[in-house]
Amino acid sequence: MADTLTKLAYQTFQDSISYFSLGHRTLLTQLRQWLRPEIKLEIQTVSPTLLGELAQRRADLLALDWQEAEVGIYPESLLFDHPWDDFVRYYPTLLLDTPRVWDRLAKGEAQAFDEDIDTATYPQYYRRNFHYQTNGYLSDESANLYDLQVELLFNGGADAMRRRVLAPLKRGLEAIATAKAGSRSDRMGMIPFSHMKVLDVACGTGRTLKMLQGAFPALSLFGLDLSPAYLRKANQLLSRSPQALPQLVQGQGEAMPYRDAYFDGLTCVFLFHELPGPVRQQVIEECFRVTKPGGVLVICDSIQMIDTPELEPMMANFPVLFHEPFYGDYVRDDLGQRLEIAGFRDITTEVHFVSKYWVAHKPA
Ligand SMILES: C[S@@+](CC[C@H](N)C(=O)[O-])C[C@H]1O[C@@H](n2cnc3c(N)ncnc32)[C@H](O)[C@@H]1O
Repeated sequence: MADTLTKLAYQTFQDSISYFSLGHRTLLTQLRQWLRPEIKLEIQTVSPTLLGELAQRRADLLALDWQEAEVGIYPESLLFDHPWDDFVRYYPTLLLDTPRVWDRLAKGEAQAFDEDIDTATYPQYYRRNFHYQTNGYLSDESANLYDLQVELLFNGGADAMRRRVLAPLKRGLEAIATAKAGSRSDRMGMIPFSHMKVLDVACGTGRTLKMLQGAFPALSLFGLDLSPAYLRKANQLLSRSPQALPQLVQGQGEAMPYRDAYFDGLTCVFLFHELPGPVRQQVIEECFRVTKPGGVLVICDSIQMIDTPELEPMMANFPVLFHEPFYGDYVRDDLGQRLEIAGFRDITTEVHFVSKYWVAHKPA
């Protein structure tokens, strides 16, 4: 009975975010067409059949999200862990910022930063207004709005997509623990994953780290990101939890400040579609370097053409609406091959809703 009620609460919670997102996007599109009729976007039509397919994919994602909590991969409380206070607080800011976003969209301007932001130390490909965001990833205001924007974009499915890294990571860490403990008599009573280290590459505002904290409290967690503002935001979020604070470091995925073979597991969520192809390869090679032999890497990113050609209109429209200059190349990139070139083996993929996952192992 309690479970039926919790499941109902979860569905109601997800449905309310979905309806709100739909209302928000419809309102902003109509306002834009009315107030800024000069903005003409070359958008492919999304047929009702395709919308139905997307709704089914989202329902499947949520069903799996519920099931994996039910079987104990993570606590059910994670399903309701939502930054509501931030949403309420920053939704008006998001609306007030919208005219600036439209200005950039109208001019096709995607490398504009306020004067007080020093972009010189960042790689060229990063000095952009990804998603046409004001100040790209380089301001506290952008960090405050980011999660809200992502949830509205994915109809409330962003966290459910992030949570799909937890089961494969858990399997990978269990395999390491089993191999280590072997037939040792002290195996019983060991705290699962204690002393194991996991890094979230491009941790952003810390949503995935927060899930890892909740699901595997004994892990030592680390987060790396290029944006100081997003790391500040992650620090705020993660400090609220009673668990140990993950070690957050500003740095580049393609030159990580960690020694070789340091981590048992790595996760990386929604980074690769924002990198040029050669940088994707460098980041994967760095992931390989810092993973211990036998360790596991779990990547979550956008769907690709090879798996879901029927969703092509979505994949074509996304970079037009959200300034994603490397996305067109990403959706045709073979990350499996890149992982193999770096040395990873036993590589598998999964697709859920509009995201794709690669699970790769460093040979023991
Ligand atoms: C789309 S956001 C994803 C953030 C987070 N993983 C999530 O799930 O929301 C991309 C993140 O990657 C970071 N980033 C981009 N290029 C990077 C690089 N070369 N090295 C480290 N972080 C990078 C950005 O600062 C941003 O926080």
